[in-house]
Amino acid sequence: MDKFLIRGGRPLQGKIEIGGAKNSALPCLAATLLTAETVTLHNVPYVKDLITQRRLLEDLGATVLTPELRTHKVTAKNVTLFEAPYELVKTMRASVLALGPLLGRFGQAKVSLPGGCAIGTRPIDLHLKAFEQLGAQVSLEKGDVVARAPKGRLVGSDVDFETVTVTGTENVMMAAALATGRTVIRNAAMEPEIEDLADLLNKMGARIKGAGTPQIDIEGVDELGSAEHTIIPDRIETGTFIVAAAITDGELEIKGCRPDHLVAVIDKLREAGVSIEELNPSTLLVKREPSGLKSRDVTTEPHPKFPTDMQAQYMALMTQAEGTSVIIETIFENRFMHASEMKRMGADIQISGSSAVVRGRAQLVGAPVLASDLRASASLVLAGLAAGGETLIDRVYHIDRGYETIVRKLRSVGADIERIKEDVTQPTNDAAETAGAAVAIGTVVDNPSPS
Ligand code: EPU
Repeated sequence: MDKFLIRGGRPLQGKIEIGGAKNSALPCLAATLLTAETVTLHNVPYVKDLITQRRLLEDLGATVLTPELRTHKVTAKNVTLFEAPYELVKTMRASVLALGPLLGRFGQAKVSLPGGCAIGTRPIDLHLKAFEQLGAQVSLEKGDVVARAPKGRLVGSDVDFETVTVTGTENVMMAAALATGRTVIRNAAMEPEIEDLADLLNKMGARIKGAGTPQIDIEGVDELGSAEHTIIPDRIETGTFIVAAAITDGELEIKGCRPDHLVAVIDKLREAGVSIEELNPSTLLVKREPSGLKSRDVTTEPHPKFPTDMQAQYMALMTQAEGTSVIIETIFENRFMHASEMKRMGADIQISGSSAVVRGRAQLVGAPVLASDLRASASLVLAGLAAGGETLIDRVYHIDRGYETIVRKLRSVGADIERIKEDVTQPTNDAAETAGAAVAIGTVVDNPSPS
């Protein structure tokens, strides 16, 4: 398994370009299954989860062309299979996003039930209950979820989510787009990725209103058609690089982002002593305030509040702030795995249930550490950049799932980071090339612990 070797203590300086949002591109690629016509998606990030999603579409019978690296032209005209097998679902939970479009268009879908993962149990019961409310018959057969619309088509209905679920909301939006009649989703997720998916679906001919609010109204249509759409910038990648500038006491210009998509993150980081200046609507200039970093408490909650996907990176920053901060994780029950690794680097963190108490400012010292999931990996990279000495991060396949060319990007702004490849016969030290090789030969890089 590849590792990252980081020699920390260098302030990052320069410009970083943000890529497309992984968690938007995943449902948007799934949505291409809703039509026989060609859907063109631009700004699809070049990360392993998207390679896996592309592989899923191709396995189902869709044709996927990539005339440019980040453009996908998908034609799901000859879909012959209606299932996402265990081999794919076990590498990427987001394969469950195939359920909604397959059920909506073909009235049948079979998707392997995802198991627990590194950050929690993560059931999909709410997706399945919602499909039943839309008239589907859902059963579990030998580990697979099998869903069928009895008359071949779903029927619009009220779906009231008891817990806010991002992919659940997306699955229902896609399924209901082709149902008969009206569907109303209440307690819907409000993430920018939901709005982005609704934008794409509406361009394809769907009639969806209210995405980005707690209530989404969907008037079902008979068919959807071709569309062209550009994926929004990745707000979590943006937040991660904001923290990278602050934790290294550097100065980064972060370009091609949407600050309006991470208001809670920006507000919290400003409170914590990070200067974040909006140079224009898509560019931020980030550095530490002269007064230094201050500890500030945070609680993760669904959008528009502070996202769970920034919790680990924020924890890394708080190890470098003056004072004590309490970080409460309310979305996933097991998302503090990075804390024990940071402690190996000298951080003072105490975990009690869903709370972490971080005492700063700790002198971090490089150590060998283990990445447990995507955002945990990012937080360890950040801690390694701030630490004195060498940090060796193992299992970095997690970070390849969601951060495009992170080694190249960080090196371009002065970080001393390199990829140590397990196979020394392959000299590349850059994630892009690894991902590129996987695209070229159409492989899926196995990930035994999807998140
Ligand atoms: N939940 C249920 N039942 C369900 C669905 C969700 O109990 O049927 C619970 C979950 O266990 C969790 C909470 O509801 O406690 C919220 O989960 P949600 O369904 O919103 O998460 P998700 O859709 O599986 C997406 C992102 C995650 C991100 C979460 C929360 C994608 C592909 N994944 O997951 O992204 O953490 O929303 O914002 O959009 C990441 O990118 O690193 C990542 C894990």
